[in-house]
Parts: sequence; C-alpha cells; structure tokens
Amino acid sequence: MGTGHPQEDLNQVIRQHSEWLATQLHAQRESLFPPDAAKAMRTFSSGEAAALLGVNDSYLRKLHLDGKGPSPEVSPGNRRHYSAQDIQDLRQLLEKTARRPGDYIPGRRDGDRMQIIGVMNFKGGSGKTTTSAHLAQYLALAGYRVLAIDLDPQASLTALHGVQPEFDLEDGGTLYDAIRYEDPVPIAEVIRKTYIPNLDLIPGNLELMEFEHETPRALAQGHAGLFFFRVKEALNQVDSDYDVVVIDCPPQLGFLTMSALSAATGVLVTIHPEMLDVMSMSQFLRMTADLMDVIADSGADMSHDWMRYLLTRYEPTDAPQNRIVAFLRTMYGDKVLNATMLKSTAISDAGLTKQTLYEVERSAFTRSTYDRAIESLNAVNHEIAALIQGTWGR
Ligand SMILES: Nc1ncnc2c1ncn2[C@@H]1O[C@H](COP(=O)(O)OP(=O)(O)O)[C@@H](O)[C@H]1O
Ligand SMILES: [Mg+2]
Repeated sequence: MGTGHPQEDLNQVIRQHSEWLATQLHAQRESLFPPDAAKAMRTFSSGEAAALLGVNDSYLRKLHLDGKGPSPEVSPGNRRHYSAQDIQDLRQLLEKTARRPGDYIPGRRDGDRMQIIGVMNFKGGSGKTTTSAHLAQYLALAGYRVLAIDLDPQASLTALHGVQPEFDLEDGGTLYDAIRYEDPVPIAEVIRKTYIPNLDLIPGNLELMEFEHETPRALAQGHAGLFFFRVKEALNQVDSDYDVVVIDCPPQLGFLTMSALSAATGVLVTIHPEMLDVMSMSQFLRMTADLMDVIADSGADMSHDWMRYLLTRYEPTDAPQNRIVAFLRTMYGDKVLNATMLKSTAISDAGLTKQTLYEVERSAFTRSTYDRAIESLNAVNHEIAALIQGTWGR
C-alpha cells in the first residue's frame, strides 16, 4: 500500500523489550548485590536469641560465661550476637536437658506425619508469597526442618531468597524437573540449602508453566496417571528430611495448584479484606470445591488436617475493611485465624530489598513500626505452628 509507515513485528518488539528489561534488572541487581555476595542471615541480639529459644537472656549469658554451647560474637559493651546457626546449636544443647522433649526442637517425632502447607488464593497480591516466606523462615528459626517450594512461575519467593529465577536456573532446577512426565529427576536434585539453617528451597521460574501445558497433553494421551499426586509423590521421597513443607502457590487454579492442594495436609487461604478480593474469593472457593470433587471422584483421599483463612495487609483503622473482617469472622467462625497480618511499610519496604522482616535489622525502621509488624507476623506464625503441633497430637 506504500503509506510509508514503518511496520514492526510485535513479537520482535516484545522480545527486544524483554531483553532490555532483563539486562537492566540484572545490572541493577549486580550493583545492589555484587555477584559473589550470596545472601546471608543477620545476627541476632542476645535478647532476640533468648526470645527465639524461649529462655531468659541471663541464662544464655551464663551458658556463654561457662563456655557451654556456641560462642557468640561479642561486641564492645559486651553485647552478645548470635548467628542463626548458633541459635540452632543452642537448641540442640538445651534439648538434651529439656524438661519435656520437644521444648527446643519442636519437629516431628516417631509416627508424626510430615506437614505440607499450601498457601493459596488465585488473587495476585493477596499476600501468598509474603505469608509463605515469613512462615517458612519463622518455622526454621523455631527449630523445625523446613522445605519452602516456589510453585509460582513468577518466582517471587525464589527471588526473595536470593536466587535469580532468570539467571540462576538456566538448566532447570525447579519442581517441574521432579514432576514432569518425561524423565523426572529425584526431588533431591532440585532442593537447595538457603542462608538460613533448617530452611531449604525449591526455586521456581517460568519453566513451571510447562506442567500446565503438558498435563492436558498427557491426559489426552492417557499417560498422566494420577497427575494431581505428582507433587505429593515427589515429596514422599524426602519425607524423612523435613517437618514442614510450605508451598507458595501460583495465582490461578491450574494443575500446579491442584497438585499442591492434593499434596497438602494444611491449607492456608490468604485474604486481603476488600470487597473485590472477597468477591473473587467466592469464585475461587467454588472452583476449588469443583476441582476437589473431580479429584475425589477418581478415588483420591482429599481429607486435610486443617484449612484456615488468613487476613492479610489488614488495616484496623479502615472501616470498610473492618466490616469485611467482621462479616468473614461471622460466616466462617474459627476457620479464620485470630491473628492477622497487618499492613505495614516495614513489610513492604523489606520486600523491596528482597528481605523478610526476620532478615532486616530492627534499627532500619522506626521501632514502633517494626515492633508492630513483627508482633503481627509472629502471632500469625505462632498460631499456625500450634495447628501443626495439633496435628501431631500436642
Ligand atoms: N502485610 C503487608 N504489609 C505491607 N505490604 C504487604 C504486606 N503483605 C504483602 N505486602 C506487599 O503486597 C504485595 C503483594 O504481596 P505478595 O505476598 O507478593 O502477594 P501474592 O504472592 O499473593 O501475589 C507485595 O509487594 C508485598 O510486599
Ligand atoms: Mg506471589
């Protein structure tokens, strides 16, 4: 036609933009975190360590003076700082003389089932990743052996733990490798240690989407088997290595979420208490129930130990939110966790530097802001830990 207007192929434009963005983001990360500087966990003040262990600081001080247990770093003014590993070593030491077994090492005992907690909701931004990360880290610091799984192709949980989904996983390394239909690898091959003792991670990236594409194909060809048990079967291989598995689910009800749901012993549905979110949750619940019916029809056991709603990014001073919270509590009763995750700039600011509130220093924030946020997170995680203990009959 010769209008003279230059034409561009959309796919080329998009590819170019993707490359620019990836390069820029990579450069930005390199300047923020030099390439060899792996993430590290901060140290804990003696007060924090004592609180994590549930003992008095004076008792920790006595152990130190008696030369028992790990040697904390001592700074001018005689302040003691404990690494996360020191705290873990203290757990081992204290457990030996504990009044009741499990006071310091609270994980599974003989006959206790590994707990698999699926954090889900198909609404993006409902706080799934924030909840998963803080829960996994809290449990690890509390002495549980934890495996965190990023099942979201967007891989925020992965990035939060210092693994770059687009650069560090070029040869695979996500759960997809262990659940794919062709040549699945042993799950141990995709598990990596993190910078936090007791916390291992299976990272995610876009490759997880393959499972969404391959499952319908495998179903059509009749070799998908009980596809929704592929996550559970993969986890069975490492059953003796963990007390709790935390799965951060993708924001959709696809085959990945279904597989997580089928593996889960506990289900946590995150809800941001706003009208639009609650309306979409109604659909989410109905579709989930429909899916679970389908799975149950194939003879699978769909029983769970517990299911709870967690209110996230909650602002107690917001009247409309309070009405929704009251409405949910009336309707769902004790299925809604008592503790809520308060909205806090401490949580979102920590997230900007790819950290949880357990990783940042209290001194980086206004004290009251930090304290309010961490109290809310600890209360939520404490309540979930009690549910876990409950399933073990304690
Ligand atoms: N309690 C909170 N207070 C403040 N910001 C929060 C809180 N929880 C989550 N956020 C922020 O909201 C955004 C979405 O949370 P995220 O956990 O990624 O949701 P999801 O995984 O469901 O998409 C993130 O930027 C996160 O930092
Ligand atoms: Mg997320």
